[in-house]
Amino acid sequence: MPIRLAVPNEIMPGERRIALEPGVAKRLIAMGVEVSMEKGAALSAHFPDAAFEGVTLVDTPAELYKNANLIFKVQPPTMEELDMMQPGTVLVGFMQPHKNEALLQKMCERDITTFAMELVPRITRAQSMDALSSQASIAGYKGVLMGADMASVFFPMLTTAAGTIRPARVLIIGVGVAGLQAIATAKRLGAIVEAYDVRTATREQVESLGGKFIDTGVSADGEGGYARELTEEEKQQQKDVLAKHIAQADVVISTAAIPGKPSPKIISKEMVADMKIGAVIIDLASEGGGNCELTQPGETVDFESRVTIHGPLNVASQTPVHASEMYARNLFNLISPFITEAGELELDWDDEVIAKTVLTSECEVKSERYRREEVTK
Ligand code: NAI
Repeated sequence: MPIRLAVPNEIMPGERRIALEPGVAKRLIAMGVEVSMEKGAALSAHFPDAAFEGVTLVDTPAELYKNANLIFKVQPPTMEELDMMQPGTVLVGFMQPHKNEALLQKMCERDITTFAMELVPRITRAQSMDALSSQASIAGYKGVLMGADMASVFFPMLTTAAGTIRPARVLIIGVGVAGLQAIATAKRLGAIVEAYDVRTATREQVESLGGKFIDTGVSADGEGGYARELTEEEKQQQKDVLAKHIAQADVVISTAAIPGKPSPKIISKEMVADMKIGAVIIDLASEGGGNCELTQPGETVDFESRVTIHGPLNVASQTPVHASEMYARNLFNLISPFITEAGELELDWDDEVIAKTVLTSECEVKSERYRREEVTK
């Protein structure tokens, strides 16, 4: 059966990305895929309908889903969207499986085969499919621009007729994909950049980007290249060292995360109280509750008219053109190897990426991780 791909409008408030862009649509059509999109769905990402040559535009989601056997999405589906899908449909997108127990059950009941982009393994071969990375990189970039915008100082050193201006001090906490892009962006803007992570491998990465690595003496490498949670003593040791650096920073960008757990609280209220007047914290870990005790996810907190703590959500969506382009290419790179010459989908369940990324299929939760922690939480 030929692939009939559908791309709906993203209905989550504030979501401006779309899971397709004109270049990817063109490549899929050339492979024999019939592509449909909800009318106007890509406008929020600044792609007009006319840019999608050869794509069938559909008026309503019900009509779109009725004819599809493959669906590309950004955000997890709602219950109503799942109800509109045909049994046996393959759905690809972010699924936030740790938050969506009821949704997982519904996917199983409706016999939807779902691939969760959060589950793409962090292996070299899968880098081009790694949507967590492509979107985190955008967040790191944008987070620094937010910090520069909200800061009360210039980032670069400036020699002016009115004297020399010192460069800003920027501290990056958590040097994963977002943190690395934040370091590179802050450096490009001319700031003095320090960075910190609990994984030992990050020292070299920070230094290669021209940042200064802060050594707290705590290393907490966990499974699969991720960090593990710190013990109480380690947390204290980390706080003692970091407090001095946080007190000197004009802007702190925090990105620390532990998969499937709330964001570690690294910046206490006392640390904020010791910061410079006019300092700014951009807490990119807000999605998981934030790295600062005072962060209110989705809000901007003014701490005693001294420090601003900004907790943005869904940051990648604020750069919708490139976020959509990268995301759509990630989906294409995941699925296209399994499109046959006849334009049909033949998934290879022995393929490591497919086997690890599948969340539900054949009416059950396939992901080992979510079968275990799962739905029992
Ligand atoms: P993440 O979003 O899970 O976490 C961000 C950073 O926070 C991590 O670097 C983590 O070590 C750090 N962190 C956690 N707890 C902390 C604490 N208490 N204090 C300070 N820092 C803390 O990380 P992300 O960006 O998803 O990357 C995770 C890993 O995957 C990294 O090792 C990265 O290099 C690797 N990776 C590998 C890829 C590949 O080979 N295909 C692609 C992308 C990432």
